[in-house]
Amino acid sequence: RKRIVSGVQPTGSIHLGNYLGAIRNWILLQNTYDTFFFIVDLHAITLPYDAQQLSKATRDTAALYLACGVDTSKASVFVQSHVRAHAELMWLLSSVTPVGWLNRMIQFKEKSRKAGDENVGVGLLTYPVLMASDILLYQSDFVPVGEDQKQHLELTRELAERVNHLFGGRKWKKLGGRGGSVFKVPEPLIPPVGARVMSLTDGLSKMSKSAPSDQSRINLLDPKDVIANKIKRCKTDSFPGMEFDNPERPECNNLLSIYQLISGKTKEEVAEECRDMNWGTFKSLLADALIDHLQPIQVRYEEIISDSAYLDGILAEGAMKAAGIADATLNNVYQAMGFLQR
Ligand code: TYM
Repeated sequence: RKRIVSGVQPTGSIHLGNYLGAIRNWILLQNTYDTFFFIVDLHAITLPYDAQQLSKATRDTAALYLACGVDTSKASVFVQSHVRAHAELMWLLSSVTPVGWLNRMIQFKEKSRKAGDENVGVGLLTYPVLMASDILLYQSDFVPVGEDQKQHLELTRELAERVNHLFGGRKWKKLGGRGGSVFKVPEPLIPPVGARVMSLTDGLSKMSKSAPSDQSRINLLDPKDVIANKIKRCKTDSFPGMEFDNPERPECNNLLSIYQLISGKTKEEVAEECRDMNWGTFKSLLADALIDHLQPIQVRYEEIISDSAYLDGILAEGAMKAAGIADATLNNVYQAMGFLQR
């Protein structure tokens, strides 16, 4: 079976963008593929963070995966730092990653500009190398992510090809290895709708965990009245009716797309249904649909998070299964790179 991996950072709260861009698609893929979903706690420390909160945020994120429908009889769920091979492979890959590739990363540029020089650790620069390790360790075929991770995936592919070229094939065989590629070159899976969910307060910037205003996003665990209120107060325009794809109406397009995904209707059905609505009518339709969709997730989340033994068991089992595969890849990399076998 083809293999899929993906992860979310346990920082801030998981929002509708994370759900529609990534997690929801994991649920659809887990039936057909061999899937590994992790909580990327090692990535979460690359900007200043609260050590008192990290472990709680990690468990919360795991519970949300399950609440959203990740089925652990099919998928492996684990915490990135519980599988040591991630950090270890990152070191090996760091030595063959040109600094120029990392300097070009848009997310690095944006995050470092926002954080200010004093807060930019080396880890923020090498972040994509760790992400490449997460993916390459599992010889993944596909990586379901939102649009904003596309460039990181591109770097992962280039890095895989570089290692295969530098250390794979005949060179590896001479060292006693199996030859061939060291890493499979993975492909991103970016959904046609939902890959870039925009802010509720500005249809031109993406919904994000780190945006200062909580009004700009719907968190998966927002209570009913908070959801209703955020939608009521979100940015509108003064055009009549509701329509997709009008570049002058980014907010309108964004909210219609959210409604399309949440309701499970087609774009045509939504366009038809909402064409003659005014903002007030549409907003209450959207708020109700969101509340109906998120409520069962919130109920399951409460059940899961209150049973810590169950959750810990899932994470331990996931880490064990993941480590088996990750360690095998890591050993191959050590061998191909010429290290003395232990
Ligand atoms: P993170 O935690 O920022 O986001 C998790 C997932 O949510 C997607 N996403 C969005 N999709 C649509 N609209 C939005 N507004 C939106 N905001 C976020 C992201 O694209 C992502 O799929 N570096 C990654 C985590 C990571 C990872 C990996 C992912 C680390 N290692 C290996 C895949 C494979 C990140 O920070 O995602």
